[in-house]
Amino acid sequence: RWRLAVDAEQCIGSAACAGACARFRMTDDGRAEPVAEVVDAEEAVRDAAECCPVEAITVTDA
Ligand code: F3S
Repeated sequence: RWRLAVDAEQCIGSAACAGACARFRMTDDGRAEPVAEVVDAEEAVRDAAECCPVEAITVTDA
């Protein structure tokens, strides 16, 4: 299982993460958030974190 976090200070609202992986969604203020803090380990989650242009997403072991 992985713990997901989006740094709201860094996020520029690219939405690449939400497009790449259903574990992220966009909030009303145009930032991303994880749909759940802890999720099953899936390749798509890591791909989403890597596609963020400002590296606002962290994925750690939960
Ligand atoms: Fe924000 Fe990066 Fe996603 S800028 S919307 S966390 S791809």
